[in-house]
Amino acid sequence: MKMILAPSILSADFRILGEQLRETERAGAGYIHFDVMDGIFVPSISFGMPVLSSIRGTTGQTMDVHLMVTEPVRYVEEFARCGADIITVHLEACEDPGAALDRIHSCGVRAGISIKPGTAVEELIPYLDRAEMFLIMSVEPGRGGQKFIPESLERIRKLRNLLDERGIEADIEVDGGIYHSNVGEVIDAGANVLVSGSGVFNGDVEKNTADFMEILRRYE
Ligand code: DX5
Ligand code: ZN
Repeated sequence: MKMILAPSILSADFRILGEQLRETERAGAGYIHFDVMDGIFVPSISFGMPVLSSIRGTTGQTMDVHLMVTEPVRYVEEFARCGADIITVHLEACEDPGAALDRIHSCGVRAGISIKPGTAVEELIPYLDRAEMFLIMSVEPGRGGQKFIPESLERIRKLRNLLDERGIEADIEVDGGIYHSNVGEVIDAGANVLVSGSGVFNGDVEKNTADFMEILRRYE
């Protein structure tokens, strides 16, 4: 399976954001992970459409938009227009998650659905054939730099089994507390899209990305 690194720009230096994106691209990161927070679904507020519009096209990377927003269906079309290639909504944030996924597809964008650490993996079962990507949060959503919750590994394994049993080859993305030191375990459990904020942007961005990519290539 193709392993993809998705640097989360929540931890980037916004004074030189374009430059940092190009560093991650040069070193092999396929996606840019774009965390949108509304101050309601999660306590904090991050950034939104104008930032996405301004960075789209800076690199050739896939724009992976993670909406930590209540009733995200309201914003799907606008994020698609601003350059999202993948839009992920939270199961817990939607009154009708299936309708949100349909809306994403109707905009010609890939759809993802995410669960917080406290939500049972089985709650994703009705959506397994309705999304291209499933995002397992390995920290409580809301901020970068938190510690990876070890129980997430079992949750990733369970989800990969549920997909395999049905012959579905979807992506499993994992987000929160991923560093060079634990990314291998996350991949071993069944994930193939790896988000990292602090692990990429704290320190030498290009080197951090290259070191991640060297590990990821061993698993392809
Ligand atoms: C958390 C966000 C993450 C965050 C990850 O709510 O969804 O994408 O940026 O950051 P690190 O890798 O620092 O845990
Ligand atoms: Zn995220």
